[in-house]
Amino acid sequence: MYRGGLISIEDMSTEEIVDVLELAREMAQDIRGHSTVAQGLIMASLFFEPSTRTRGSFESAMNRLGGRVISTVGSGSSSMEKGETLVDTIRIWSKYSDVITIRHPWEGSARLAADYASVPVINGGDGGHEHPTQTLCDLFTLVAEKGSLEGLRVALCGDLKHGRTVHSLIFGLLRFGAELFFVPGEGLGLPEHVRAKIQIQYGRQIERVPPGDFEALYGGSGLEGNGESSLDAIYMTPSRPHQRTLLEDEPNFRLQISPGSELVFYVTRKQVERDAGLKEEGKAGGRYPRITRDTMRSRFARSIVLHPLPRVDEISYDMDEDHRSRYFVQAGYGVPVRMALLSLALGLRPWKKAEGQGDGTDSEDGTVRAQGVECQNGTCVVNQEPQGCEPGFSVMQGEEGDLTFACKYCGWHNAPAFYGVQQSGQLIYKPIGRLRFISQHQLHQFRFFADEEEARTQRYGLSVREPEGSGRVYEVTE
Ligand code: NCD
Repeated sequence: MYRGGLISIEDMSTEEIVDVLELAREMAQDIRGHSTVAQGLIMASLFFEPSTRTRGSFESAMNRLGGRVISTVGSGSSSMEKGETLVDTIRIWSKYSDVITIRHPWEGSARLAADYASVPVINGGDGGHEHPTQTLCDLFTLVAEKGSLEGLRVALCGDLKHGRTVHSLIFGLLRFGAELFFVPGEGLGLPEHVRAKIQIQYGRQIERVPPGDFEALYGGSGLEGNGESSLDAIYMTPSRPHQRTLLEDEPNFRLQISPGSELVFYVTRKQVERDAGLKEEGKAGGRYPRITRDTMRSRFARSIVLHPLPRVDEISYDMDEDHRSRYFVQAGYGVPVRMALLSLALGLRPWKKAEGQGDGTDSEDGTVRAQGVECQNGTCVVNQEPQGCEPGFSVMQGEEGDLTFACKYCGWHNAPAFYGVQQSGQLIYKPIGRLRFISQHQLHQFRFFADEEEARTQRYGLSVREPEGSGRVYEVTE
């Protein structure tokens, strides 16, 4: 958890996720039976972007727990419209409530809110970045439908670029060993920083594979119409041989999505509000995977279809009565899942599996500052409300020990060019490429700079190459 609340799915330990899902099951079994749990407590529901399910189910959940709800809906109904900052808004709502749920268009806004709030903050969606509570609903649905989260094969379809539900879900699923297939709309593949995180932080290879039966989802001319002939996939079931070997050995290997294969389709709409270009081209533009009775017919007989909703036209209405469609059931689970999360975050129910290690012990910040390095994401809160932010980066280390820097608010990458360190009493700086294989603990012994000027301003001097053999200590034996 992050400061007692939930900002990113990565704030949660796997035990914490399991605790939420188990308590949610208890809540679901008797949805009206917990009406005194949060008596006397207030949830602030701050939705600065449209919402039906997230706001509705959070508010329903708090009411079902016997708590009360106060709210702001849309940016027009708050003093932010008068120029009040997000930080000040949050300081005030903290005084009026015991927990805050927030949805806001700026990426990283929920984290900034959590840093200034005196009560737990729960992220109900921060721009195109993350939507961790939707992931909890998705995981709950998967357990309910499939019996377990182990060994799932999930096809993530649609707008993988801007879809915050997809970003959070990927990192939720990666813990449970799912195999993932990415089936994006044209030009709407995963953002580079999400791909990098999958590969570096989670150590998973993303492979290009032939589209196999997914081709049908793109209609008439299939995926080829995108100018592509393959899709990305992550194979990660540890018990199976790595599929890369299969690909190399068998050039004719086809994606093994055969009739009847048990696949989970997680479909998302085009997030037109996050991209002016998308808004303009609307429905007409670009190829986009669509689920219809026809494309699903016998190919995916034992699959199920999920969608965080709202659905626009990526799932045809004739699928609604199909037994494979589980998206309305999924939306209903929002209430027990959020009842569970609120009860745990408010300390009204104990953490069980997470007790002692996840229980209230926040995920480590582990971020570093990098002098002069700016986040390049225009919708990041760092660029929208810089006065409240403390820019910083979380650092990931690749297999070769190389470092990648991700904005702590929105996850976008940007690297410092130099690092500084104290050596033999002197402050020196060196090119970042020379820094490899360091522990999280060591990280804080270094400073980071965008360029040499920044380093010099901070009184670091260029390191002079040490002569060969210098600094060696010889022990003379008898
Ligand atoms: C999603 C969202 O807001 O990100 N909806 C939801 O919370 N259930 C998906 C979307 O808007 O497309």
